[in-house]
Amino acid sequence: MSIQTQPKRLTVTQIQGRKGGDKLVCLTAYTASVARLIDHEVDLLLVGDSLAMTVYGFDSTLPVSLDMMIAHGAAVVRSTEHALVTVDLPFGSYQASPEQAFRAAARVLAETGCAAVKLEGGEEMAETVAFLTRRGVPVMGHVGLTPQAVNALGGYRSRGHAAGEHKKIMQGGVAIAEAGAFSLVIEGVAESLARELTGAVAVPTIGIGGSPACDGQILVIDDMLGLFTEFTPKFVKRYRNLGDDIRTAAREYAEEVRHGRFPAAEHTYAAPRRPKPAAAE
Ligand code: KIV
Repeated sequence: MSIQTQPKRLTVTQIQGRKGGDKLVCLTAYTASVARLIDHEVDLLLVGDSLAMTVYGFDSTLPVSLDMMIAHGAAVVRSTEHALVTVDLPFGSYQASPEQAFRAAARVLAETGCAAVKLEGGEEMAETVAFLTRRGVPVMGHVGLTPQAVNALGGYRSRGHAAGEHKKIMQGGVAIAEAGAFSLVIEGVAESLARELTGAVAVPTIGIGGSPACDGQILVIDDMLGLFTEFTPKFVKRYRNLGDDIRTAAREYAEEVRHGRFPAAEHTYAAPRRPKPAAAE
């Protein structure tokens, strides 16, 4: 009898258990090809609604639909085997009521095979987080700069500098964690707030512009690879400039096609062999 050693995906419980331990490494992923490349380098892949901007060219995350999130979520799950995959619930799919959120989350889990969903918001979303988690839907929270609220916030500035907003974000993060979220994204806030919130909750915090005080970090993959250059927040470190590589490759290709240097012999199928003519009798 042979024993099958299937590689195992990280679970929600394992991610939750990393509170205060080894830093959690997270990146966004939207496509099969990129997800496959980075799967074993990270602990968690987020199919973020930032795909509205990076993949679809919208100027905010608001226009993305549940169907779009499901299509990308399924592609990322299909092409990976190691990282825990979490999919964002898009704007308008969960804010109306806990029941609406459950219907959206159930579709995401069933149709993508991912393990968890993420939603944005503080105290006002705590009841929904409790409703989902009690019904078997693992939830990642997201507080601080919450891009789905861009119209209400008036832009993408960092949050929580004034005492009132600091207190509101603290209370929101604690409420979401106590409602049952297994982890909490903290985006675009002052280090003091990220540190205080990380100390106040029992689940791992994942920073994006949340300082090294968080239990883990996440970046938008297109930002860190230099593929999305329209706008670069202070918290982004660009590890590569693949945008320049892509432009240069396209230029070289164009040059070769125009001058007849591509395709060369090695890219061309040989002509079929002609049958030998029959010998004369
Ligand atoms: O949509 C997204 O990419 C996100 C990350 C910024 C955390 O929510």
